[in-house]
Amino acid sequence: MYNLLKGKRGIIFGALDENSIAWKTAERVHEEGGVFVLSNSPASIRMGSIMQLAQKTDSKVIAADATSVADLENLVDQAMEIIGGKIDFVLHSIGMSVNVRKGNHYTNQNYEYTEKAWNVSAVSFHKVMQVLYKKDAMNEWGSIVALSYMAAQRVFPDYNDMADNKAYLESIARSFGYFFGRDKKVRVNTISQSPTATKAGQGVKGFDGFIAFADKMAPLGNASALDCANYTVSMFSDLTKMVTLQNLLHDGGFSNMGVSQQVMEMFE
Ligand SMILES: NC(=O)c1ccc[n+]([C@@H]2O[C@H](COP(=O)([O-])OP(=O)(O)OC[C@H]3O[C@@H](n4cnc5c(N)ncnc54)[C@H](O)[C@@H]3O)[C@@H](O)[C@H]2O)c1
Repeated sequence: MYNLLKGKRGIIFGALDENSIAWKTAERVHEEGGVFVLSNSPASIRMGSIMQLAQKTDSKVIAADATSVADLENLVDQAMEIIGGKIDFVLHSIGMSVNVRKGNHYTNQNYEYTEKAWNVSAVSFHKVMQVLYKKDAMNEWGSIVALSYMAAQRVFPDYNDMADNKAYLESIARSFGYFFGRDKKVRVNTISQSPTATKAGQGVKGFDGFIAFADKMAPLGNASALDCANYTVSMFSDLTKMVTLQNLLHDGGFSNMGVSQQVMEMFE
């Protein structure tokens, strides 16, 4: 390990179980010397195994529904007290679609569900940043990362309304990133990750098919949750301090492929 995050403090949202990308990130940040508070919704704290992660990484868990500004304000205040100062890094690793869960087709959405998913998966990122910004809770040269998926730019039919939410999320990163950069020297980026076998990932219809397809298309194969954690660690470190307003493709090269030989062979 490289001690890349020694002396840095943060908040990590979205560790549900050991498959979660946020879980792997918390483990890697801990190994690199960073200290942090873990957060998730009250229901996910009850259902998941975040307490084990807290024990393993010597960190505290603070419940917050990421759609509630009051919860986020409480979280940020408490986090600064617990970790003993302002914040250097934040991971937003939150996503959920009720239409996906209920199996509603993209052309047959229940708009109450659509709005809920938009609020949880996209607007929550704005809320997290607005609370941090107003409280002046970030240290200069801090780094904020949210996780996205390439369905923000290209059509993946079964990704459903999450495609639209990811497009909105990436736009928030750019728009808020401008003000955070200009006013506080804080950088904001999204990492667009390969399909990954997690609770949220596996909830998408046809997931087994498209994770296998992406793996055969990408010259390096799919990036794992651990690979994503490592990339995020580098984005939290001082080695990437001039990178901001970017959607960073972390997909083994998938996004620049037209077709691969392995996929061609299936049709020949
Ligand atoms: N798994 C994939 O294939 C994949 C690919 C690209 C991007 N992503 C993104 O990575 C992020 C993390 O997902 P994951 O794959 O690790 O799955 P996951 O199911 O482990 O994590 C999703 C998290 O969102 C949290 N969450 C849901 N509603 C919330 C709320 N109201 N308040 C606070 N937290 C809430 C859940 O409790 C859970 O911890 C998501 O943004 C997801 O869209 C996943």
